[in-house]
Amino acid sequence: MKNLVIAVDGPAGAGKSTIAKLIAEKLNINYIDTGAMYRAITYKCLQNNIDINNEEEVIKIAKDCEIDFKDNNIYLNGEILKDEIRTMEVSNNVSNVAKIKEVRYLMVDVQRNIGKINSVILDGRDIGSYVFPNADYKFFLVATPEERGKRRYKELVNKGYDVNLEEIINDIIKRDEIDSNREFAPLVKADDAIEIDTTGKSINEVVQSVLSKINI
Ligand code: DC
Repeated sequence: MKNLVIAVDGPAGAGKSTIAKLIAEKLNINYIDTGAMYRAITYKCLQNNIDINNEEEVIKIAKDCEIDFKDNNIYLNGEILKDEIRTMEVSNNVSNVAKIKEVRYLMVDVQRNIGKINSVILDGRDIGSYVFPNADYKFFLVATPEERGKRRYKELVNKGYDVNLEEIINDIIKRDEIDSNREFAPLVKADDAIEIDTTGKSINEVVQSVLSKINI
């Protein structure tokens, strides 16, 4: 049977990873969090005190990073990455790493190779528009910035971070701006993607609405 590829794109905090993970479980396919890949590179740069605006240095780091996924977890050069890639510091720098074309080429290669061998659901910004333009299913999740900010806020508070809701909403808006306006493979809804507004909807409602569109 042919591999199934499902693309889930949308702005930060629209619920992509939560939904994609649950769909992966239901369909018994792999889940790839492509944002985690750009976060991993950003984390590595910060660890090495690299200036994120120095593209050459960032590209050098990216070339030295071998990224794998196992059981839905991301590994960087063989080491599992968890909350260290979800800090505010990484979040506030990752869009500037993700806009570098050479970094994207490297990450997209990994993503396409995974899709070649496995049935997979990937969440990101450019999966339906660039990485897998022929994906079997494409979804584009959206929600108001306030709702997205509140979700991120709750997530971070639950993890014990001392954060400010207004700052988070502003950071999300800033990140969306950089992601949508970058030159190469920006955040954009593919023409044939199904848009789902998750504002005010429960996780289960969104999962059901995605599943209702998938025939396998
Ligand atoms: O989904 P996330 O918040 O973990 O994504 C982190 C950053 O990576 C986000 O600012 C946009 C970028 N990204 C991207 O450019 N392309 C992807 N396919 C996934 C994420």
